[in-house]
Amino acid sequence: MNTLEPTAIIIFGASGDLTKRKLLPALYQLILDGHAPAQFSIIGVARTVMTSAEYQAIAKEALEKAYKAPLEENAWQRFAAMLSYQALDFHNIQDFIALREQLEAAGLHNWLFYCSVPPSAFPTITQQLGDSGMNSEEHGYTRIIVEKPFGTNLTTAQTLNLELHKVFAEKQIYRIDHFLGKETVQNILALRFANTIFEPLWNRNYIDHVQITVAEDLGMEGRGGFYEEAGILRDMVQNHIMQLLCFVALEPPVGPWQGNIHPLEAGALRDEKAKVIRALRPISAEFLEHSIVLGQYQQGTIKNEAVVGYLEEAKVSATSKTATYAALKVEIDNWRWAGVPFYLRSGKRLPVKNTEIAIVFKRPPLDLFPQPSKPNMLRINIQPNEGVTLSFDAKMPGLTADLRPVNMDFDYSDFGTSGPSAYERLILDAMHGDASLFPRGDEVEASWAWIEPLLEGEIAVQPYTAGTWGPKTANDLLSAGQRWHKLEP
Ligand code: BG6
Repeated sequence: MNTLEPTAIIIFGASGDLTKRKLLPALYQLILDGHAPAQFSIIGVARTVMTSAEYQAIAKEALEKAYKAPLEENAWQRFAAMLSYQALDFHNIQDFIALREQLEAAGLHNWLFYCSVPPSAFPTITQQLGDSGMNSEEHGYTRIIVEKPFGTNLTTAQTLNLELHKVFAEKQIYRIDHFLGKETVQNILALRFANTIFEPLWNRNYIDHVQITVAEDLGMEGRGGFYEEAGILRDMVQNHIMQLLCFVALEPPVGPWQGNIHPLEAGALRDEKAKVIRALRPISAEFLEHSIVLGQYQQGTIKNEAVVGYLEEAKVSATSKTATYAALKVEIDNWRWAGVPFYLRSGKRLPVKNTEIAIVFKRPPLDLFPQPSKPNMLRINIQPNEGVTLSFDAKMPGLTADLRPVNMDFDYSDFGTSGPSAYERLILDAMHGDASLFPRGDEVEASWAWIEPLLEGEIAVQPYTAGTWGPKTANDLLSAGQRWHKLEP
């Protein structure tokens, strides 16, 4: 049941791409599903001067694009009645004071600020929120959601945390990583900790290695300028892949149990994630030489369509050395995982969009059958085929003792209902004050600290043809008897 008090969500960066593609559709759906507060106000804020009616027209177009269909008129009218626009100069304190007075006059006592602006604008906005008294919680709650990228290296992330902490308490800050809002990512915890059959095997005694693949077939989609600064390590590895790694590797969170709040909600989860990141073996010169492969896509074919190479993308320098692919072999130096390699890979313009975690188990100690058996594999399919598959060897029917790998499958669609989108879930969690699915400040800094030598290291960037699985040398990261799992479309 929706028990939320009157709330205003104020979106800085109201005309931005993320707001149009993800935030407005998420808010629309929350209202349609009855999850939003009964008294709810969505205030788009940006520099451009326009009326609320003009902004509503922009929002409507964005929603129709997201839903790929015209909106149902009643639903749209309900949403539009809650949506307004406020032109605001980030450098003008009077604009912030006027916004505060407007919220107070409307009786909206809970404020959720959503910073969907370039990181360079965060400090100014944060400071102005503080100077205008909008960080105070005297009236109700004040929370701030900060979009990724959270910094570009350790120093910038630390500075950003410092700036935020000058104005907000840590419990008011929600750093978003939308991968944690995905149902299938949260299901990793259910799989591990709501069952008893997996956890006894979930360690170095039974697991040979783990593969985490976040493959995308898309290229730059007009984001070349951003990508030139970010590259795959900052865009995907430091955040999304790191969070997946944490969920696979973390210890079961512990209490305290407080009333009906259990450890997963109480933030104990964030302690365990931080421990995993701190246990990652630091990057050494040897790692730079043998444990990482970087690549950049060249022109090729995806789904029978010719696509340009990275260097031909708009806003990309013709001599760019930015990596669009990374494969790494990392080790977690703790009791559970000592000696178990985690192979991580992500890339743009790979043959398919598919995110999968493969837990590959050790082979039996002895081959009793004529053919060597294949290692058991538990595949957690994050997207687009959401589910879990366990593969094991079975005896083929017949007079021989021939073996064949077979699958036990769980498909999310069997539930017959789909969950909220990642952004719906996370915005709702922030309104409920549950920060478990948002990386904490120390966690983000630890992950920048770990990855920093890779950002600064001299690592050759190898070409790969768009539509292939990246540079062939990525195969050399794996040990004898291991191979990258082939992902389906
Ligand atoms: C974003 C990255 O954070 O995640 C994009 O900036 C990437 O480059 C996207 O495409 C992937 O998200 P999803 O939910 O589509 O897998």
